[in-house]
Amino acid sequence: MSKMEVKTSLLDNMIGVGDMVLIEPLSEDTFIENLKKRFDHNEIYTYIGSVVISMNPYKSLPIYTAEKVEEYRNRNFYELSPHVYALADEAYRSLREQDKDQCILITGESGAGKTEASKFVMSYVAAVCGKGQEVNKVKEQLLQSNPVLEAFGNAKTVRNDNSSRFGKYMDIEFDFKGDPLGGVISNYLLEKSRVVKQPRGERNFHIFYQLLSGASDDTLKKLKLDRDFSKYNYLSLDSATVNGLDDAASFRTVRNAMQIVGFMEDEVQSILELVAAVLKLGNIEFKPESRCNGYDESRVKDKNDLKEMCELLGIEQSVLERAFSFRTVEAKMEKMSTTLNVAQAYYARDALAKNLYSRLFSWLVNRINESIKAQTKSRKKVMGVLDIYGFEIFEDNSFEQFIINYCNEKLQQIFIELTLREEQEEYVREGIEWTNIEYFNNAIICDLIENNKNGILAMLDEECLRPGTVTDETFLDKLNTVCAEHQHFESRQSKNSKFLTDHSLPHNCFRIQHYAGKVLYRVEGFVDKNNDLLYRDLSQAMYKANHSLIKILFPEGNPAKVNLKRPPTAGFQFKASVGTLMKNLLSKNPNYIRCIKPNDKKAAHIFTDSLVCHQVRYLGLMENVRVRRAGYAFRQAYEPCLERYKMLCKQTWPHWKGPARGGVEVLLTDLQVPAEEFAYGRSKIFIRNPRTLFFLEEKRRQCLEDLATLIQKIYRGWKSRTHFLLLKKSQVVVAAWYRRFAQQKKYQNIRSSALVFQSFIRGWKARKLLRELKHKKRCEKAVSTISAYWHGTQVRREYRKFFRANAGKKIYDFTIQRIMQKYFLGLKKMPSMSPVDKSWPARPYGFLDGTHQELRRIFHLWRCKKYRSQFTEEKKATYEEKLAASELFKDKKALYPSSVGQPFKGDYVEMTKNPKYQKLNSFVEDKVLVADVVSKINRANGKVTPRIFLLTKKSLVLADQKTGQVKASVPLPDLSSVSVSTQNDGFFALKLKEGSTSAAKGDFLLSSDRLIEIITKLHCIGATSADRNKINIDISDEFLVQFKQDKVCVKFIQGTPKNGNGVACKRKNNRLLEVSVPSP
Ligand SMILES: Nc1ncnc2c1ncn2[C@@H]1O[C@H](COP(=O)(O)OP(=O)(O)OP(=O)(O)O)[C@@H](O)[C@H]1O
Ligand SMILES: [Mg+2]
Repeated sequence: MSKMEVKTSLLDNMIGVGDMVLIEPLSEDTFIENLKKRFDHNEIYTYIGSVVISMNPYKSLPIYTAEKVEEYRNRNFYELSPHVYALADEAYRSLREQDKDQCILITGESGAGKTEASKFVMSYVAAVCGKGQEVNKVKEQLLQSNPVLEAFGNAKTVRNDNSSRFGKYMDIEFDFKGDPLGGVISNYLLEKSRVVKQPRGERNFHIFYQLLSGASDDTLKKLKLDRDFSKYNYLSLDSATVNGLDDAASFRTVRNAMQIVGFMEDEVQSILELVAAVLKLGNIEFKPESRCNGYDESRVKDKNDLKEMCELLGIEQSVLERAFSFRTVEAKMEKMSTTLNVAQAYYARDALAKNLYSRLFSWLVNRINESIKAQTKSRKKVMGVLDIYGFEIFEDNSFEQFIINYCNEKLQQIFIELTLREEQEEYVREGIEWTNIEYFNNAIICDLIENNKNGILAMLDEECLRPGTVTDETFLDKLNTVCAEHQHFESRQSKNSKFLTDHSLPHNCFRIQHYAGKVLYRVEGFVDKNNDLLYRDLSQAMYKANHSLIKILFPEGNPAKVNLKRPPTAGFQFKASVGTLMKNLLSKNPNYIRCIKPNDKKAAHIFTDSLVCHQVRYLGLMENVRVRRAGYAFRQAYEPCLERYKMLCKQTWPHWKGPARGGVEVLLTDLQVPAEEFAYGRSKIFIRNPRTLFFLEEKRRQCLEDLATLIQKIYRGWKSRTHFLLLKKSQVVVAAWYRRFAQQKKYQNIRSSALVFQSFIRGWKARKLLRELKHKKRCEKAVSTISAYWHGTQVRREYRKFFRANAGKKIYDFTIQRIMQKYFLGLKKMPSMSPVDKSWPARPYGFLDGTHQELRRIFHLWRCKKYRSQFTEEKKATYEEKLAASELFKDKKALYPSSVGQPFKGDYVEMTKNPKYQKLNSFVEDKVLVADVVSKINRANGKVTPRIFLLTKKSLVLADQKTGQVKASVPLPDLSSVSVSTQNDGFFALKLKEGSTSAAKGDFLLSSDRLIEIITKLHCIGATSADRNKINIDISDEFLVQFKQDKVCVKFIQGTPKNGNGVACKRKNNRLLEVSVPSP
């Protein structure tokens, strides 16, 4: 079962009784006894039905934590022990869920804890309502308005160190979801007399002390203030510091709160200036100055304070100074100025101070309202919290107490009315017959005070407005006549002779029997306070101030709006605002917190019976209980009732099937509760006497004990059983595991021995089989070997004869073929393509010699052909000539090898270029084939002469080397042969045909290094011309040459000539020319 589902009740673990309606028997003593008992146990809250009584513990209790908030959140009112949170939760839930506007009325005397309670309510609602940035800001502003108002409106009194000196009603507004939207604060009658005078042991409003203690030096300087309290007349000094109050820290808190609420920096400054101005004002003193008319006129004693105050507020000093000395009275269009004496000046000063402060306070409330007002116009749900000053009975009670007590009287009235009305409504709702309840109705006292015709307030107003001399005494006289007969009015001089001898009643006093007790009021000051007059000169002086805030506070000072009508009196205003408040409260669902203070010493743990008794009486708490119990003391919805008591009857225990009401009926009948003790409502059971409830509770307690035993019994039985079953189960498990283990072991043993056996037998069998198979295989192999051999023998025997005859050739052919193949494949890699390259691979086999040589030849021819195919025509001709030379001279003449390397250029003289040979050039018509310088051998002596030798296709020309003169020209057909030696010389003889024209001079014997070329070309011309025969070439070492008529033999011998290593030619005789050629 989750925490939320646990059903608890107020009745659980009660100290005394949590709800006073359950007190038995009901008397003042038992009532107070119960409160005391609970107070001693720190149970400061007790209910009377739905009303919460709160005792001030004067110490902090751990019952306002976030956990407590969670505990009380969404719980029924009677589910948990009494708490102000339960009331706040009930109010908030009914606002959110039933859409009912709520008001929380907190009453009690000064110091009873009203303000604290109101703060607890607000913080609880703030904690449980919606969250979000905007909502949190609103909450914060609402909560932070408290410190600001407390600083300005609270003061230390003899009864309370933080006593609220004003009444406060705050409407918190929510949207349909229950999220806070904003709020409106109304304030009631600030006790402004405190500004100028405080009773003994009390202080002025906190803000004065906070400012002086907490403000920085700089701020104080600006405000022209001094930190020393004793410098200010308006501050009481005997109790300027309060234990447990840190004024400096509070000042910081207030500044911070002001900032959160939304005060601008300049606004805060203005406010502080006003506070400072009030302090300054108190220091202004007057002295009398005699006038010629015999009257005293007041004058400001020391103008310094006045000056500083005027500077602070931007007032012209002379104007204010004048206002303290004169007073302008206007009557019927006439203005008269009268002087003020010192007493009047003081009166005016104090009136100004009181007005300044109280108006500043009202302005503050309005300014806060502006900040916290809801931003939306949509419909709002409202929760009002009323924290108003409690009923006050002092030794010396004046106008303020009278007003305050009047307010409390009114609240008591609506309390009674609403409690009764609610009670009545519940009875009707539940369909239960209404029994009339006797109670004291204080309407009569309210009437005494507020009756428009002859009420005390009306009389006071009448006196104040009456022309002629009006004093407090004339007012008392009036009361004495008008109210003499009233039951609750007492006065010595009244017509009611009862009080003529009552010495407890002084002559200048009247006494009212309030619902909460008798209060003696001194009439002194009533008229003044009711008039609440501020001389017009002062308000006009204020209006003229050059200070934004002051100007707003004194609108009546505006000369343009002079209103001769008297402003409404304080009593009248208060009555009107109380009237509005009452109307407002009556339209809402009320929730009450009634605060009681346990002692007068502000101390924890002290419970003064008489003091509490007094409060219980005047708060009418006993009556409250009586009203609540008049019909039926206790009521509870059927479901929780049945849930709580169902164990008292067998039919309803443990479960009742059917509607809860039926169950409750069965239960009560079974318990034989007398029928007149209860009534069945529609949704609730009503119990007339607490006795019956306690009877049920007692029965329940006993039954719970039995049930506890039963539960214990069953639980123990269940526990033992489950334990036993668990043991049994474990034993079975253990046994099973053990058995399994033992069996496993045994099985493994058997299995391993079986395996050993098996392996031995299998091994033996396998070996046996292997032996057999091996034997079989060997037999088979032997058989096939034998048969193969046998078969081979047979075949060989049969084929031997064929085999010998053919095999040799075949093998030979094959071998040869293979060798050839290998040889040819080896030739794939060709030797060089150069025709002069002699290299050729060595022959591999002797029998391939012919083929090898033939292939070499074919290859050589082929590569020569290839080489030739690249030749040009010119080159071809050259080679042909070279070939011809080779054919002519190779191995025939020793000179030949040296010519092989020479290129056959033909023209070595370059005649065309030489101008010397111009004539010669023109002589030769054909293309010159050879032009060279040769040596002509003188036939007579063998000496040599250089000659140019020219050869054309047609002729042969010899010319002088120097001149180019033609010496001889021989047409080629005239040439018969050419003779040369076999030696290494360049001699050659050109033999001419006999009988030709050229032959006349004889043959030519010439010598040239280029013999081979000349002869070859000569030979080639012969070979190519069709019309001539080839020229014969004789190669021999002896030949004949025709010299004119003689034939001379030219003989070549080898020898060493004398003149170096050249060839020497010598005519030996007529017939012989010897040429010696050096041996090679
Ligand atoms: N629930 C509480 N827990 C602890 N202290 C409390 C509680 N209620 C009140 N007090 C103490 O009592 C003091 C007086 O309480 P509080 O100011 O609320 O009285 P009050 O009824 O508003 O009086 P007054 O009518 O003079 O304004 C507080 O300052 C606080 O110290
Ligand atoms: Mg208070």
